[in-house]
Amino acid sequence: MTKKWWHDKVAYQIYPKSFYDSNGDGIGDIPGIISKLDYLQDLGVDIIWLSPCYPSPLADEGYDISDYYDIDPRFGTMEDMDLLLAEAKKRGMYILMDLVVNHCSDEHEWFRKACQDPEGKYGNFFYLRDKKEGELPTNWRSYFGGPVWEDLPGTNKQYLHVFHKKQPDLNWENPEVREEVYKNINWWLDKGLGGFRIDAIINIKKALPFHDYEPDREDGLCTIKAMLSEAKGIGEFLGEMRDRTFKKYDAFSVGEVFDEKPEEIPDFIGDNGYFSSMFDFNETIFGESEKGWYDMKQIMPDDYKKCCFEAQAKVGDIGFLSNIIENHDEPRGVSRYIPEEDCCPESKKMLAALNFMLRGLPFIYQGQELGMENVPISSIEEVDDISAINEYQVALDAGLSKEEAVKVISRYSRDNARTPMQWNDGANAGFTTGTPWLKVNPNYTRINAAAQADDPHSVRSFYKQLIALRKNPAYKETVVYGTLEPAWEDRHNLMAYYRKGGKTLLVIGNYQKDGQEITLPSEYRKVLLNNYPDIVQEDNTIHLQGYQVLILEI
Ligand code: GLC
Ligand code: CA
Repeated sequence: MTKKWWHDKVAYQIYPKSFYDSNGDGIGDIPGIISKLDYLQDLGVDIIWLSPCYPSPLADEGYDISDYYDIDPRFGTMEDMDLLLAEAKKRGMYILMDLVVNHCSDEHEWFRKACQDPEGKYGNFFYLRDKKEGELPTNWRSYFGGPVWEDLPGTNKQYLHVFHKKQPDLNWENPEVREEVYKNINWWLDKGLGGFRIDAIINIKKALPFHDYEPDREDGLCTIKAMLSEAKGIGEFLGEMRDRTFKKYDAFSVGEVFDEKPEEIPDFIGDNGYFSSMFDFNETIFGESEKGWYDMKQIMPDDYKKCCFEAQAKVGDIGFLSNIIENHDEPRGVSRYIPEEDCCPESKKMLAALNFMLRGLPFIYQGQELGMENVPISSIEEVDDISAINEYQVALDAGLSKEEAVKVISRYSRDNARTPMQWNDGANAGFTTGTPWLKVNPNYTRINAAAQADDPHSVRSFYKQLIALRKNPAYKETVVYGTLEPAWEDRHNLMAYYRKGGKTLLVIGNYQKDGQEITLPSEYRKVLLNNYPDIVQEDNTIHLQGYQVLILEI
């Protein structure tokens, strides 16, 4: 594996709308991000991924872009963006933007022109089909519910949208579309961007010609995955994109890739892969059900361990995974991977260490470093997330009561991650002086950045230590490039592994509230990190305390 500039970095995802509001309108913005760069630098972050801040009707919170060359006025101006790039550079940091090119917004100029003249140039930027009364072109269900076909306003045609109807899919088969995408990527890279996170990219290749699949719910529709599993040849698009854009700039790219087959991993993230890296979603997708969120299976500690090790084994030293505990599409990791009654600083730190020490590039999602938790949701009216609103209906249709359906939504809603960042215990958690666009999690008085700043035992301080360890010249090589070998793999509620390089490290997490004993094969040399003040030990036998995590040098 060829070494790359970004391998030893630590990345951080910002959801701009909820990070920091500089002008009191209740919406986070780019000047707000600039004012918090020192906070991120203090944490040890090198790469910052911004969720979309381009002009957008915000039907899917910015993942519906109406202009790829500008900044939404709610988030700031292009001058602000340029300043952010310059300020990041001063601090040795890199900015990634979100590349959302499976679809654009129905308010994008291309789509408007397609409506005006569906037979013209821009009609071919989208997937259009003639409208037939009482019949849809195909029976595919969109990710956010309902059929993927919608009437093309003012015409006798329909257009395809695998996400929301305000997100029409771009026709990647059309070389003109691809040219537009490459031009845009290069335009941003010329500005000094470090690279991109690449949204929903597995959807760009459709199985042609379109046809129906076996319905999988009462609605007579089928999951979009049925079509995607038949689509062949995405590599031609992705390879072309790499060669025409990222590669020329040695830019970093991380793909939102699901359902890749083991034999495809070298193509995706090998030495000349389509992307620098891709996210490991093995834990996030665990327990998913065709039926919907209401039928999801709860992930347990042994499942979590298995998912992580599976992903690690699958990738081996072919390339670098990007490891996450959560992102803007998922509930808070500490609420998902730790039983509610056990969610405390120790267990949060354990989860952090187990994930952070895996081989790959660690991504921290805003607030994760504080141990931010899911937000209590008591009624569907409070919910902003369009996928949660859809899943609420799916749950009701399946016969759940309103109370039960709200419970499902509370568990999995994307709003859980999107509540404002908790900066301090002042009004609105210090996020805004106005009215926040989404309600602040009431636990901000307890969980906030200011309270954790000078506390050496805070979750934030623990994250700082983890980051410092990754950067420590004595251990860096091993933490970044060392192999990963599971240890005591069959032990219940214990997740442990070796990282072996120039040094040998052993990461041990007691994934339960009860104590547990392990006997090391030999003496350890040094304790590099411990989420408890001490280690209870007799010879080589360690009595791990509840949710204790240790990083030992062996
Ligand atoms: C990705 C984004 C998600 C968005 C979807 C459609 O999954 O992360 O937030 O809704 O793509 O763009
Ligand atoms: Ca603002």
